[in-house]
Amino acid sequence: MANVVVMGAQWGDEGKGKIVDWLSERADVIARFQGGHNAGHTLVIDGNVFKLSLLPSGILREGKLGVIGNGVVLDPWALKGEIEKIEGQGVSVGTHNLMIAENTPLILPVHQDLDKMREEAAGKAKIGTTGRGIGPAYEDKVGRRTVRVADLADEETLDARLDRLLAHHDALRTGLGAEAIDRAALKAKLMEIAPFILQFAAPVWKVLAEKRKAGKRILFEGAQGALLDIDFGTYPYVTSSNTMAGMASTGTGMGPGGIGFVLGIVKAYTTRVGEGPFPCELDDEIGHHLATVGHEKGTVTGRDRRCGWFDAVLVRQTCTVGGVTGIALTKLDVLDGLDELKICTGYMLDGQKIDHLPTAAAQQARVEPIYETMPGWTGSTGGARSWAELPAEAIKYVRRIEELIGCPVALLSTSPERDDTILVTDPFSD
Ligand code: GDP
Ligand code: IMO
Ligand code: MG
Repeated sequence: MANVVVMGAQWGDEGKGKIVDWLSERADVIARFQGGHNAGHTLVIDGNVFKLSLLPSGILREGKLGVIGNGVVLDPWALKGEIEKIEGQGVSVGTHNLMIAENTPLILPVHQDLDKMREEAAGKAKIGTTGRGIGPAYEDKVGRRTVRVADLADEETLDARLDRLLAHHDALRTGLGAEAIDRAALKAKLMEIAPFILQFAAPVWKVLAEKRKAGKRILFEGAQGALLDIDFGTYPYVTSSNTMAGMASTGTGMGPGGIGFVLGIVKAYTTRVGEGPFPCELDDEIGHHLATVGHEKGTVTGRDRRCGWFDAVLVRQTCTVGGVTGIALTKLDVLDGLDELKICTGYMLDGQKIDHLPTAAAQQARVEPIYETMPGWTGSTGGARSWAELPAEAIKYVRRIEELIGCPVALLSTSPERDDTILVTDPFSD
C-alpha cells in the first residue's frame, strides 16, 4: 500500500494544509518531517477557519495520530500556544493524537534573536525570513550543539548542551553588539516547559515502522515548497531545510521504501513571500487582482504575497527533483473571470531559449519568461466538486498544465473549504 508524501511544488502556500486535511480522512498517521512554525496552513471546515503552524494538518480529524518528526525544528512555546489555541476552537490535542520524535531539535529564543539580528544587519540584502529562528536552529543542529527533545529529560545533559550552545551564541551576539544570554533564565524556562513536551516524546522511527507493518496509512506533510529547498531552491532566498519529498524519510526515520506516492501541491498561478527571484512576477493590475481575489497575505507574518502567472518551467523542474507522482492543483477559482491567462513555458537568457531555471543567482535574476496565452472562462469554477461543473476552458487550462509539467492532476481544489475538492486519482490506492 502506498504511503503518501505531500510537498509544496512552488514557493510555499500552495494550499498544502487544505489538501492534507482532506486526504487525512484516508490516512491513519499524519507526520510533519521538516520546517517549523515558519509554516502557516489555513484550513476551512464548514466555514470555521483553523490556522496551523506546527501541528500536522490531520489533527482536526478524530482517531488520527499526528507526528512531529525529527526533521522539524520545534519551538516548544510556540507548540504549546498553538495547542491551546486549537483547543479553544474545540479540537482536543493530547498524547492520544500527538507524538514528537525524541531526536527533534528545539528552537530557542536565542535562535529567534539571531534570525532577527541578522536580517536587520543585512539591510537590503535580507532574506525576508519569517523571523522564527528556523535558520539558526538548523545551523545548530548540523553544528552538533543543539538541545533536542530527549535532552529535556536529563538535567546533566541539558547543562552540557546549554554550555556548548551558549559558548557559540554568546560569541556571535558579542559580534552583533547584543547582550550575552541569561543562562539561568533560559535553563529555568526549559525546565518549566520540559514536562509538557516530554509527555509527547517517543521513538517515532519505531512507531512508524510498527504502523507500517500493521498496514496503516501514513501521510507525510511537507511544509514550505520546493523552490525554498535549501539545495534546489532559489538560494540563498530559501528556508534552511530540504522541503522535497526525500526529506520525509530522514525527517521521520521511515526508510525510503515506505514512501509510495508523492503528491506535489501546485497553485494554479504563482506566489512567493519574502525576497528573491520570481521570473513571472506581475507588478500590475493582474498581479493585484490575483493577490486580492486569492487573499494572498501570509498567515505567519501577515506580509503580502507576491503574485504572478503560472510558471510551468519551475513546476516541471520541482516535480522532477521531488519525484512527484501526481499533483493537487489548487486555487483554480482565483482565475475565474480573467479574459486571458498566461503560462510560462520557457525562459530567455542572454538571447538563448532555456527550459529550466539556472542555478547561478545572477542568471536567475536575468531570465525572461516566454509566455503562451490561453483564453479565460466566463463561468465559475468556485466550489466545483466534479469535472462536469468546470467550464471547458478551465479544463483546457488544467490539461495544458499537466502537459507542460509532465505530471497528472490527482486532485483539484476549487475553494478553501475542505469538501470543495475533486478527486481524480486516489494517491493512497495508486
Ligand atoms: P499552505 O501553506 O500550503 O498550507 O497554504 P496556505 O494555507 O498558507 O495558503 C493557501 C490559502 O489558500 C489558504 O488561505 C487556503 O484556505 C486557501 N485555499 C486553499 N485551496 C484553495 C482553493 O482551491 N481556492 C481558494 N480560493 N483558496 C484556497
Ligand atoms: P508554508 O508551509 C511561504 C519563506 C520566507 C522567506 C524564506 C526563509 O506555509 O508554505 P525562514 O523563516 O524559513 O528562514 O524564511 O522562506 N517561507 C515561506 N514562504 N510559505 C511558507 O511555509 C514559508 N516558510 C518560509 O518568507 O522567504
Ligand atoms: Mg502557508
